[in-house]
Amino acid sequence: MTYPIAPLFCRPWTLNGLSPRLIESHYAHNYGSAVRRLNAVSDELAALDLTSTAPQALGRLKREQASLLNSTLLHELYFASLGGDGRVPPPAISAALARDFGSFDRWRREFMALAESLAGESGWIVLSYLPRERQLMNLCATEHAQGMAGGVPILALDMYEHAYQLEFGANQEAYVAAFMRNILWPAVESRYAGALDAAPPLTLEQPEFAGLPGVAPEEVLAMLAAGDKVQLIDTRPRHYTTRDNEIMAGAVWRDPERISEWMGSLSKDQPVVTFCVYGFHIGCQSASALRDAGYDARYMRGGHFAWKALDGPVDLFKPPAA
Ligand SMILES: [Fe+2]
Repeated sequence: MTYPIAPLFCRPWTLNGLSPRLIESHYAHNYGSAVRRLNAVSDELAALDLTSTAPQALGRLKREQASLLNSTLLHELYFASLGGDGRVPPPAISAALARDFGSFDRWRREFMALAESLAGESGWIVLSYLPRERQLMNLCATEHAQGMAGGVPILALDMYEHAYQLEFGANQEAYVAAFMRNILWPAVESRYAGALDAAPPLTLEQPEFAGLPGVAPEEVLAMLAAGDKVQLIDTRPRHYTTRDNEIMAGAVWRDPERISEWMGSLSKDQPVVTFCVYGFHIGCQSASALRDAGYDARYMRGGHFAWKALDGPVDLFKPPAA
């Protein structure tokens, strides 16, 4: 495919402290160059004979293409970030910034400090919306190719020398201040509203256990740190126990096949957390059986390996005798 040149979004003559000469040069030379090189590399990729191309050559071109496409997209966002008075964001984006940064002022300080942190190096400062966390985050990308997977960028500040050197020389600080004075907040808010429609990544669904209360490993860790009384029951299948020499610290292993034999030893006055290897069926079934018997039981989402991924404490596990 051919990537088109997007018309300049902002009106250069309306900007405050960023001259038309600077914007025109940036748009025509640097943005234009990125798009033209992107198309050249994409054409080169499309023409490759993959049966005879060295994988290294393919990898190099794909990395170059990704870098140029990101440069293209971020430049378009940069020009679309300008044209306002930069002062008070409209209510929805203002509330979102306050929610995720504590206040608009704190967002602004962090954004500007990130620009300063580059200390003369090139890069992008980007405000992105992350659907997985449903939150806004400032990012500092020192290469065009860097970004947050799944993130939707809604405001971008170009910190490459070509963006300011023509008029600000080495004075990055004055350039950043000028950028902040020209942010077009209504457009940022519109992009934020659009980003809210981006679906978060698919999460694990187990319809057969939909009504069963689960607990995240982070919550279990917090319960233990708080000294809460909780009965931790590892119900990994017996055949699995010979494969692992670790068990969650404080947990006891019980054979899920013999739950009716051991459940009577549990207390109904303290909550029970059960888990299996990965958090699929066994831990859920154990929790379900315990709940049916009147215990305050929940299953730990992600099981033993989520606990390990969290670097939760473990003890040496001696597999039960066969
Ligand atoms: Fe640029």
